[in-house]
Amino acid sequence: MANQHKITLDESEMPTRWYNVIPDLPSPPPPPLHPGTLQPVGPEDLAPLFPMDLIMQEVTSESYVDIPDEVLDIYRLWRPSPLFRAHRLEQALGTPAHIYYKYEGGSPAGSHKPNTAVPQAFYNAKSGVTKITTETGAGQWGTALAFACSVFGLECEVWQVGASYDGKPYRRSVMETFGASVHRSPSDLTESGRKILADDPDHPGSLGIAISEAVEAAAQVESSHYALGSVLNHVLLHQTIIGEEALLQFAKVGETPDLIVGCTGGGSNFAGLSFPFLREKLAGNINPTIRAVEPAACPSLTRGTYAYDFGDTAGFTPLLKMHTLGHDFIPDPIHAGGLRYHGMSPLISHIYELGLMEAVAIGQLECFEAAITFARTEGIVPAPEPTHALAACIREALACKETGEEKVILTALCGHGHFDMAAYDSYLSGEMVDDVLTDERLADPLTRLPQIDL
Ligand SMILES: Cc1ncc(COP(=O)(O)O)c(C=O)c1O
Repeated sequence: MANQHKITLDESEMPTRWYNVIPDLPSPPPPPLHPGTLQPVGPEDLAPLFPMDLIMQEVTSESYVDIPDEVLDIYRLWRPSPLFRAHRLEQALGTPAHIYYKYEGGSPAGSHKPNTAVPQAFYNAKSGVTKITTETGAGQWGTALAFACSVFGLECEVWQVGASYDGKPYRRSVMETFGASVHRSPSDLTESGRKILADDPDHPGSLGIAISEAVEAAAQVESSHYALGSVLNHVLLHQTIIGEEALLQFAKVGETPDLIVGCTGGGSNFAGLSFPFLREKLAGNINPTIRAVEPAACPSLTRGTYAYDFGDTAGFTPLLKMHTLGHDFIPDPIHAGGLRYHGMSPLISHIYELGLMEAVAIGQLECFEAAITFARTEGIVPAPEPTHALAACIREALACKETGEEKVILTALCGHGHFDMAAYDSYLSGEMVDDVLTDERLADPLTRLPQIDL
């Protein structure tokens, strides 16, 4: 059908394996290091925080990991997710490009985050823990984990970044509806939170601080584990269900993408969409450009340093080799709370260093302009995070209008923005601004990177 909007898969067509890109890369990413010994961390170092099944997935050299039946059963509540052809957006832009978006907003949390929250809760429950702690920025990840914990009978405690906690009160209500308890971060419940509050009682928080608080809380209780919503290999692995489905959907319409675009906070939705296509690219079957889009206010790939750094602000995590702005860099409180992370997934950082992908940074005003165009044509109000990917798609589609190229563009519309209407109010009222991030501000946190002589 020429004007088909939705390319769907039957539940029976849903992929049953996650894809691990590492064995297909020319070299593996540098390992995480123990900050004391500077030796690669072993499974026993991670055991206080994660169940062994997830630790083994973190380091697996297998290309595929079977998705457990219990997880497939929950996935089927919203998966396979639809792939849309954005005909109405294309017409509005007057572009010959074909724009496709894989929509993850139909999940229980309204984003891609349950794709990993469900298996993480499953493996934790299987290992016998009774409670999971976590951080959340925009609230999408906290909501996803709260939902997943409710499914597998686990307690869930969430530290939400202060700026988002204040700006998105109903995200807390959804997390509580799923049974989680939620704290504003920095909080006075942890040593790391108290230290920050002592200097600034109104601190807006950051993902790095919220991670420190959740890790600290988990480490104190034997039956508690911690869960991370992005960055780590096993999280990216779980998200590859997105790209595996998209490959099947593209086969149904007989097209292949020339450009794959995704927003990057810690990198999980971008990896989930693009890694299965990268497999096909490395095998010589297709040759798409793969482009990450980050906020101009938190540009770890485009303006950060590739170095070993902590994943959190207090320095509790192993050292990760990644593109980083420095573990105590506090981004401006832009509306895309899920993109306010100082680092980038080590696996994505490595793939970027290998030259297998590219990155751009875009300011939030252009992103919200793109979101409004998208909402008024396609009828979906995007979460602030994927507005970055949409802005990059629109840039490319307008370039195609100039050149006449019929490029096929694929993006992940990784969440809806129904709890982010304060951000839209700010844009529509003309109050939203793009603050300039100076080189001086970027230089300062880098002076406090861990000093490592390897
Ligand atoms: C809707 C949405 N998109 C993207 C992100 C960024 O995370 P990641 O880069 O891991 O996909 C978040 C994080 O909270 C999010 O909520």
